[in-house]
Amino acid sequence: MSSSASEARLAVVTGGLGGLGTEICRHLARAGRRVVALDLAARTERIETFQRELADLGDSVTFEPGDVADFDASQTAIERIEAKHGDIDILVNAAGITRDASLRKMTPQQWHELLRVNLDGVFNMCRHVVEGMSTRSFGRIVNISSVNGQTGQFGQTNYSAAKAGVHGFGMALARETARKGITVNTVSPGYCDTPMVAAVPEDIRAQIIAGIPVGRLGSPADIARAVVFLAADEAGYITGANLPVNGGYFMSF
Ligand code: CAA
Repeated sequence: MSSSASEARLAVVTGGLGGLGTEICRHLARAGRRVVALDLAARTERIETFQRELADLGDSVTFEPGDVADFDASQTAIERIEAKHGDIDILVNAAGITRDASLRKMTPQQWHELLRVNLDGVFNMCRHVVEGMSTRSFGRIVNISSVNGQTGQFGQTNYSAAKAGVHGFGMALARETARKGITVNTVSPGYCDTPMVAAVPEDIRAQIIAGIPVGRLGSPADIARAVVFLAADEAGYITGANLPVNGGYFMSF
């Protein structure tokens, strides 16, 4: 199946059931996209809540199981999505986990598990969609990084390395695909109101919030709006960029 010009663009959001991913799906659908939320099949309870939460969007958002940490499974999921829904125009890599521990306590397992999802996952998905996007001369890839990839965070050598890697990867891929109508951009959220941030110990979270100039956690909608902006057809002259959405928590040129 292939997209016709009159058909709404198809977006795949990895980590689509997650704190940011769900809101990204909702905002893309409201912007007129057809959306596939890709996430682990094992999250059965969450799948049901997700479907209830987004029921008002009807058929425009659907769920597909898939594990971005696995190269072959990513390919299988993408082939299944394309067979069901058509060509993928927009890829948002929002799948991410934390395995926080200071380096002196971090196990190789905590390092590898995190890198496999947060960085290999971006490679695995991009590797399988970029050929089709190139052939069709259109693509929008938005990778979700983090302020902690820009600043480093105590207890997050693994996460900070992966998230910094995500933007380095994105800049390189942006150069490789710019002539093919594909843009590759990064959104770097600050601390947002999600289950991931809720899992940070209360006292540490309070200190972090006190250091955010805007004075509050970000909302998932704050991030989703930035993704919709970069995923638009009209955003074709923005590529290789990193858009921080962090309430002023980290500022730089
Ligand atoms: N800066 C400097 N020193 C610090 C510190 C900090 N931020 N935090 C702890 N320390 C010190 C402690 O005071 C203690 O010092 P002493 O040994 O002298 O007493 C020492 O470091 C403790 O080190 P440990 O290795 O024993 O640390 P721990 O096991 O107690 O806790 C941790 C480590 C679990 C990582 C904990 O610090 C933590 O949860 N930190 C929060 C990490 C965080 O912000 N994660 C973000 C998750 S959300 C997310 O990632 C989303 C996003 O993109 C923003």
